[in-house]
Amino acid sequence: MKFFIDTANLDQIREANDLGVLDGVTTNPSLMAKEGIRGDENCKKHYVEICNIVDGDVSAEVIATDYEGIIKEGEELAALHPNIVVKVPCIADGIKAIKYFSKKGIRTNCTLVFSPGQALLAAKAGATYVSPFVGRLDDICSDGIELIEKIVDMYGYYGFNTQVLAASIRHTQHIIQCIEAGADVATCPLAAIKGLLKHPLTDSGLAAFLADHKKVNS
Ligand code: E4P
Repeated sequence: MKFFIDTANLDQIREANDLGVLDGVTTNPSLMAKEGIRGDENCKKHYVEICNIVDGDVSAEVIATDYEGIIKEGEELAALHPNIVVKVPCIADGIKAIKYFSKKGIRTNCTLVFSPGQALLAAKAGATYVSPFVGRLDDICSDGIELIEKIVDMYGYYGFNTQVLAASIRHTQHIIQCIEAGADVATCPLAAIKGLLKHPLTDSGLAAFLADHKKVNS
């Protein structure tokens, strides 16, 4: 299973990358805005900075919502760095654009996916990744993990190559549930990744080992 970090914050990306287990990064316009990055040129510079930190796929989202606009923006983003994956919303013009990008060998991440039907269209169009939003479904009393399971089953049954990238992960338990559901990738906030490390028996066990070592070595 691949691990992506879901942020545009360079310090957090460096910290996750330094752990040595990071496979990529996802961003979205809200995450870019959170870092105060304004204007097309600054956004592009920021994506390149991210690509220079992490040796893995970096999703950069288009702002355009019409076919021609998505194509123009996506081609510009893809030209920034070989690791850029063009993130496209799951709307009609987005699906058409994903088909176009797929024929041209430009990798895509179909985002804002909330149903198996949307995931089917993304896969048929040739998306590299599909991003079902787990947390946002949970927020409205739906079941985000169940959606991951349904998409994984469907892609397996029909032999689609599109990778299931579980997005909108809110906490560590979501990561574990995505693993159990068979997601190919989970994109997570740094805190959720670090949460995987936590176990009180690790802490108490380590404290006991160090205390015993000190007893005979001091
Ligand atoms: C990443 O690809 C998504 O844009 C992101 O995970 C959405 O997360 P949120 O629902 O916490 O905003």
